[in-house]
Amino acid sequence: MRAVDLIEKKVNGEELTSQEIAFLVRHFSDGSIPDYQMSALQMAIRFQGMTDRETSDLTMEMMHSGDVVDLSDVKGVKVDKHSTGGVGDTTTLVIAPLVAACGGTVAKMSGRGLGHTGGTIDKLESIPGTQVEIPIERFKEIVNEIGVSVIGQSSNLVPADKKMYALRDVTATVRSIPLIASSIMSKKLAAGTDAIVLDVKVGTGAFMTTVEEAKELSTLMVNIGNMLNRKVVALITDMNQPLGMAVGNALEVREAVELLSGKIPEGDPLYEVCMTLASYMLILSNLAKTKEDARKMLAKALYSGEGLTKLQQMISAQGGDASYLCLDRIDELCQTKIIKPVYSLKEGFITAIEAQKIGTAAQMLGAGRATKADKIDPAVGLVMQKRVGDYVKLDEPLCIMYINDASKAKAAEEEFLSAFTLSDDKPAPAPMIYEIIGG
Ligand code: URA
Ligand code: CA
Repeated sequence: MRAVDLIEKKVNGEELTSQEIAFLVRHFSDGSIPDYQMSALQMAIRFQGMTDRETSDLTMEMMHSGDVVDLSDVKGVKVDKHSTGGVGDTTTLVIAPLVAACGGTVAKMSGRGLGHTGGTIDKLESIPGTQVEIPIERFKEIVNEIGVSVIGQSSNLVPADKKMYALRDVTATVRSIPLIASSIMSKKLAAGTDAIVLDVKVGTGAFMTTVEEAKELSTLMVNIGNMLNRKVVALITDMNQPLGMAVGNALEVREAVELLSGKIPEGDPLYEVCMTLASYMLILSNLAKTKEDARKMLAKALYSGEGLTKLQQMISAQGGDASYLCLDRIDELCQTKIIKPVYSLKEGFITAIEAQKIGTAAQMLGAGRATKADKIDPAVGLVMQKRVGDYVKLDEPLCIMYINDASKAKAAEEEFLSAFTLSDDKPAPAPMIYEIIGG
């Protein structure tokens, strides 16, 4: 078998066999297929697509390119949640402890932020002392003891994806539905949980820009999971503005603490998306029969403070100082040299907020990385003061920026302001959740 013939086959729109896909992934992983051939193949896949069978074969091969985590000695239905890259998306920090407070078993491996999207691991590290690189045995102990742990992906989890994604990132081959599905699902399957709730973002700042595309990706991921006996539900949620108000690491931890303290009302987008994702996690865990039952259990865990207590327990177990995780002290993690409101240049109704640009503005302040080597400033970022549909006057701030390096502020402000579209007419409200696949 020669890689060049298989690339030619895909260029011609033909279907690759299971053996051919195995050959490509294995030899790319061991270095005998060079980057340029894998790049060409991925570009051919971006143009020609893959059948569901090819995509599931690719997923399995990628999954087995490294460690596959065995969670069989953790009791209960192990449930995970994954979001396809959002801005102001603090859901994991809310949902993981809430589900655990309802009796669920949340064993989660998360990623770091890159570019304009935040990563849960970076947010956890903004809490002093918190360890995210924990040996699997200790991770399992924590999950058995308190029902929840969130750690970084082990370095040998799906190494094929790391190599393939690095090429995709620089060859315009990220936005391919089969490549995204296999990238996400290979990691979720290798992480060893029984059930997975996916949050597929759709909007200007997301990989998927239309609901149709998001549906195709979601259906594919649900089917791949089901083939391997995993229960999978995908929610298609809106990313035509940041989900929560806070964008930045400690600022997002603060918003999670506020939500878990009952300070964010029902109807708020972050609240609603968290409650819906968490509801499906309880249903897949066989802890609730209906969405209504699940929601009641979650509301009880939230308003009794049990969810916040779980978050504190998890952070303590991972070596962090949980005493910051309360309304009285959380501001201490969000102290910056400068706190500056950013005002609109025009008056009008906000009709759109490009989430990607908001994420980039926060990144420019130091909340995210442009390259893997960049260091994050945990305290910086911004807190939105307005949402799509609001009217804004010239003397009303659109956000409050938390700044440590004043030299970065001007460019970040310009990027931030360029995210907004204003109009004289109030826009029709957009849904927060478009569709649920596999529920
Ligand atoms: N997230 C991933 O992990 N992989 C992709 O290809 C896209 C989003
Ligand atoms: Ca297609």
